[in-house]
Amino acid sequence: MTWNIIVTGATGHYGSLAIDFIKKFNPEGVEPRIGDFSDKNSLIEAFKGMNRLLFVSVPYKNIQKNVVEAAKECGISYIVYTSIFGAEYSKFGLEINHKQTEQWIKESGIPYTILRNNWYIDLEEGLLHATKNTGSFLYTTKENKLSFALRREYAEVGARVILKEDNFYYNKIINLARTPFTYPELGKMVEEALGKKIEIKEVSMDEFQKYLEEANVTQQGKSVSLSMQTYVKNGNNGEELGDPKEFEEVLSRKLESLVSIIREYLSD
Ligand SMILES: NC(=O)c1ccc[n+]([C@@H]2O[C@H](COP(=O)([O-])OP(=O)(O)OC[C@H]3O[C@@H](n4cnc5c(N)ncnc54)[C@H](OP(=O)(O)O)[C@@H]3O)[C@@H](O)[C@H]2O)c1
Repeated sequence: MTWNIIVTGATGHYGSLAIDFIKKFNPEGVEPRIGDFSDKNSLIEAFKGMNRLLFVSVPYKNIQKNVVEAAKECGISYIVYTSIFGAEYSKFGLEINHKQTEQWIKESGIPYTILRNNWYIDLEEGLLHATKNTGSFLYTTKENKLSFALRREYAEVGARVILKEDNFYYNKIINLARTPFTYPELGKMVEEALGKKIEIKEVSMDEFQKYLEEANVTQQGKSVSLSMQTYVKNGNNGEELGDPKEFEEVLSRKLESLVSIIREYLSD
């Protein structure tokens, strides 16, 4: 069976990867359509004639309701939404937008699948590049855990689920995470990825900030990296619940190893 599939956020990193996978698995024509989440009429125009929606989230409150309402008005018959892993926990406040959107989707009566994505590796850009630049992997807590995967792994799941025949994934929440790890464990994997001995050491938050400043990482990398340290240090974020089972079931293979994805990330 073929569907007319619309992917939001198609110009973004996730959306463009998902479209590449959709074309790979089901090579039909692709045409761009323009819509703004804050303008429901533009979405109704963009969704006309479409059956399935891969709804890639934006991190702005309230405007996602327009997407659900436009989908309903246009007779979209299936929504796959990119939510956040551990939405019941504190996730920098991002969980508020996602939980609300999940609720709007459920209330719409349209069959759905919620993809609860954990973090992208990019959130540790600052720390990974600082380690590469300095030969030291510093962190501020050895206690709690975190996990991440590659965008392309999440995007492939988005493509596989939106293309799945019949109602296989209807009205399901799929948790996309991997086995979580501590910062000292991550340090060891970065060492292996770099292929050389590095210093791996716990420091205070002030020392960590100084390390990032001296390591020549981007402003964005510094700010996100500091937030991640605080997030892991504070815990109570659901990270320890990560389990690759559902991720690997949808992909029908193992997730790429952490060492290999870190190596790839640092080689760019
Ligand atoms: N799990 C994680 O670690 C993580 C990290 C970051 C983000 N995220 C979430 O995942 C989503 C996708 O990530 P990404 O890396 O692909 O983000 P991205 O590269 O920044 O792409 C965002 C996409 O959303 C579109 N967009 C933004 N505002 C819009 C609006 N008002 N109406 C319609 N489209 C709009 C952008 O379109 P334009 O090009 O036209 O602006 C772009 O195509 C993010 O938006 C965020 O919700 C998750």
